[in-house]
Amino acid sequence: MPIRWIDQIPLAQKRVLIRVDFNVPMKDGQIINDSRIKAVLPTLQYAIDQKAKVILASHLGRPKGKKEEALSLEPVAQRLLFYIQKEVLFSQDCTAYANRKIIQDMKEGDVLLLENLRFHPGEEAGSEHFATQLSKYCDVYIDDAFGAVHRAHASVAILPKLVKEKGGGFLLKKELETLSGLLHAPKRPFTVVLGGSKVSDKIDLIKNLLPKVDTMLIGGAMAYTFLKAQGKEVGSSWVEVDKLGLAKNLLKEAQIHQVQFLLPVDHVIAQELSSGASSKTTSDSQIPQGWRGLDIGPKTIELFETQIRKSETILWNGPVGAFEVEPFSMGTLKIAQAISKNQGCTIVGGGDSVSAVNQFKLQFKFFHVSTGGGASLELLEGKTLPGIAALEL
Ligand code: 3PG
Repeated sequence: MPIRWIDQIPLAQKRVLIRVDFNVPMKDGQIINDSRIKAVLPTLQYAIDQKAKVILASHLGRPKGKKEEALSLEPVAQRLLFYIQKEVLFSQDCTAYANRKIIQDMKEGDVLLLENLRFHPGEEAGSEHFATQLSKYCDVYIDDAFGAVHRAHASVAILPKLVKEKGGGFLLKKELETLSGLLHAPKRPFTVVLGGSKVSDKIDLIKNLLPKVDTMLIGGAMAYTFLKAQGKEVGSSWVEVDKLGLAKNLLKEAQIHQVQFLLPVDHVIAQELSSGASSKTTSDSQIPQGWRGLDIGPKTIELFETQIRKSETILWNGPVGAFEVEPFSMGTLKIAQAISKNQGCTIVGGGDSVSAVNQFKLQFKFFHVSTGGGASLELLEGKTLPGIAALEL
């Protein structure tokens, strides 16, 4: 079903509520990474240029319906001011009656940021009452919070149904077009690199992608469940014992779809996952007793790099090793570098792989780094996302 985009909706003089995802990592009141703020600037600037009265609404963290100072959006208002070079009004309570007066007095091009929506229990509960309160602020609703469209929360799934004019912002458009493009018409060869700790987190993703891809490269702890399912010795590596049957079925499905399903052929192993742990590299895919796999080894890196080089489309979701802990970051770094050198359509989705890309400072070398963790996963799993469904005409 079609969605209208922000540039198809008249905004001048209108009160335009833009749902954004300013769920940025914070430490001691400081924003550690502001890429989610930067990602909505084109939409925000467009609305300002169109002479809208802009009301920004977001969540931050999981305060569970109560006010929590550490999760205030006030630092975000400061950061916005830096980027848009104009005053950003801030409302201490997203549903305060006083907001109506503030909004009434706003001039064309003014910007107001509402305090964290999740300070109210109604947001996560998907409350119609809470959404109705927000609907009083606006004539137009724009969703540019791609990272939150998988949540059936009030401001995402209910509010758009209560406002006369609704549509998506430029970030949402880019995310949807890029990620859905992968599912519908990817350039081939299409390779997916999957990592992360659990097969169980990626079952639906693997099932939805198997009929569409040419190659799947599997790393991270989830690889050990697959290796164990093939009868390999994995020592004390993390294995989801109750998912071994499922892993066998996925391996069979890969054969049916003629997908090259490549597992690690060697590993970096240690007796424990700790910084500076003494590690060694195995000569093949077997891991001795008492040792656990914590990263892919050099032969696997080479094998995966070769596949990545040959691909026209690459989707990466999940680190291939315990990259936050040295000496287990090499596999993830090499894979990130290999993908970043590919000139085709290279896409990173999923919170941990995006953190890895940021840590390695490679974020600008990819065609697309998704701003959605859970949202990108659910979209690629083929699920209907409540925030998208609510925008459809
Ligand atoms: C995210 O960080 O993935 C989004 O902002 C959604 O946050 P949530 O998982 O707390 O709903």
